[in-house]
Amino acid sequence: MTDALNTKRSEEIFGSAKNLMPGGVSSPVRAFKSVEGDPIVFDRVKGPYAWDVDGNRYIDYVGSWGPAICGHAHPEVIAALQETLEKGTSFGAPCVLENKLAEMVIEAVPSVEMVRFVNSGTEACMAVLRLMRAFTGRDKVIKFEGCYHGHADMFLVKAGSGVATLGLPDSPGVPRSTTANTLTAPYNDLEAVKELFAENPDAISGVILEPVVGNAGFITPEPGFLEGLREVTQENGALLVFDEVMTGFRISYGGAQERFGVTPDLTTMGKVIGGGLPVGAYGGRKEIMSMVSPSGPMYQAGTLSGNPLAMTAGIKTLELLKQEGSYEKLEALTKKLVDGIITAAKDSNISIHGQSISAMFGFYLCEGPVKNFEEAKSADTDRFSKLHRLMLQKGVYLAPSAFEAGFTSLAHSEDDINSTIKAFQESFSEIS
Ligand SMILES: Cc1ncc(COP(=O)(O)O)c(C=O)c1O
Repeated sequence: MTDALNTKRSEEIFGSAKNLMPGGVSSPVRAFKSVEGDPIVFDRVKGPYAWDVDGNRYIDYVGSWGPAICGHAHPEVIAALQETLEKGTSFGAPCVLENKLAEMVIEAVPSVEMVRFVNSGTEACMAVLRLMRAFTGRDKVIKFEGCYHGHADMFLVKAGSGVATLGLPDSPGVPRSTTANTLTAPYNDLEAVKELFAENPDAISGVILEPVVGNAGFITPEPGFLEGLREVTQENGALLVFDEVMTGFRISYGGAQERFGVTPDLTTMGKVIGGGLPVGAYGGRKEIMSMVSPSGPMYQAGTLSGNPLAMTAGIKTLELLKQEGSYEKLEALTKKLVDGIITAAKDSNISIHGQSISAMFGFYLCEGPVKNFEEAKSADTDRFSKLHRLMLQKGVYLAPSAFEAGFTSLAHSEDDINSTIKAFQESFSEIS
């Protein structure tokens, strides 16, 4: 084992935080509950790096859970924000920056003809669900086991074993009556979806999914799965919704829908389009989006929605991403990282299954392939938890859960990737 990390100040701060906020955090996964040790308290971030309050530096593969695709605190994003800041932080009135970001999103994302900005991915998914129901006049929705669509009541459902047709709430406080309209199927299982449609004729408003799953580790769609969902929804007069909060502008500039060539009816976005500030969005065909208030009857609103700072960070981030060669660089860098991780594990006789697409990656400590959440659960979480701590000690910050995707950025260099692979080699050999 390498020297223990000095995290004295982190421990003090987190110790106080526990008395101030539930679990000491503002969002649960940050609390390191599923890995060893206490969370690291960050002091600042820049490029591919994060520094903690004890002065330790980490190569960061969490990237604020997705937004930091150009690297943290990119100088051009910061400069643009400073300029906007001089004009005020929030208008509560139309602003031209909303037009600009809307035009960029519409130009990039194949399914989006019109867009509504909100403040988080949860808000986007919650609103899109209301829109699915408003447009179709049907109440039920199909989601997949292991896909996360934010914390709105209707989405807090996990499937039981096999195909559960009645959703059971994942959290106290979520009424059964609400989740009874949430039907679940295993990811990559088209037949299960067809069965749900057959069992619930004219009752299902649509199917929502992460087109590439990042909330159950990293699971890619099997060939034909997305295409099959497109067909089955169309046949049943239901909508297909891609939750691209994680994959939007990350899997490619036009998201997973561009990469896989399957166009949904509606799309939710967040993370990257906010460039590190709180933003979400949902969009789709004009005919559907025209249902949204005030052009239509479906109510949805937001005090800070479309605020100039968030729009500015989003616009600048997309401009940087649009530059020639961005996605080729992200693809090559991330593949090199994952190949290195897999080789390192195998050299230590540790079972591993890993993949990447563009700037998103993941690995499971088990034999692959992993096609759904049930299979993902066979991964060795105890070993992951040890690995996570060892990697921290060697200056690499991975998501504190075996079931989260990893993110790279344009700021990660070949040297960063090489030192990360070296840290994996050493860590795997310590836990083999
Ligand atoms: C696919 C997906 N949808 C929705 C959300 C919720 O977004 P937020 O945390 O911004 O509310 C997330 C968050 O990680 C996500 O990954």
